[in-house]
Amino acid sequence: MDGPSGTGKSTVAKRLAERLDAAYLDTGAMYRAVTLAVLRAGVDPADSAEVLRVAESTDLSLATEVGARPTIDGEDVSAEIRGPEVTAHVSAVSAVPKLRERLVALQRRLISEAKAVRGGIVVEGRDIGTVVVPDAALKVYLTASADARAQRRARQDSAAGRANTVDATLADVERRDRLDSSRAVSPLRPAADAVEVDTTDLDIDGVLDRLMDLVEERG
Ligand code: C5P
Repeated sequence: MDGPSGTGKSTVAKRLAERLDAAYLDTGAMYRAVTLAVLRAGVDPADSAEVLRVAESTDLSLATEVGARPTIDGEDVSAEIRGPEVTAHVSAVSAVPKLRERLVALQRRLISEAKAVRGGIVVEGRDIGTVVVPDAALKVYLTASADARAQRRARQDSAAGRANTVDATLADVERRDRLDSSRAVSPLRPAADAVEVDTTDLDIDGVLDRLMDLVEERG
């Protein structure tokens, strides 16, 4: 499942995994965890060589289940990776080609282990259908208008106790879309065989029903 932020992707992906009794992997959490390690190391997120060095010396772990908490060097960083500092720098870090190679290899390993153990997995990110799992049984690309996405993100932020306004969130959503869609390696875009689902006027249950229909159609 791919798409920009604020489309309801995370909520829907987790609920879909639960309904299907499948494993679940949030690849964005991996890029966020590396970004946190980069910021903690005092490294410039735009310095590819340094970003890679930090990634190589950080032990990142993430279980393939709903509710899994990412750790770096054994420390639970699930809350900190959602903060504004990490969100502001994650697109720069995730544009480093060698970092992507490294994380994609880790993601593929986690996915094949989870498939063997659980029989299936829901994976969410930006390049899952195009790069990480090009032979996925079902590829979904979620979209929504920028306004709808900013409002959802702002609601999530205030529910989590993070101060924000819809305007600031809209600016951040549009900035990250631009960076994620224009980067040279694995830009955000739908795979040719992805089913696009526009969530602007759908609630979570509406999206989930549509996805369950698609899963059933694929057998
Ligand atoms: O999904 P989430 O908003 O947590 O992703 C954070 C950032 O991680 C994205 O804006 C993008 O820069 C990066 N990302 C990526 N490839 C993925 C998942 C996330 O580049 N597969």
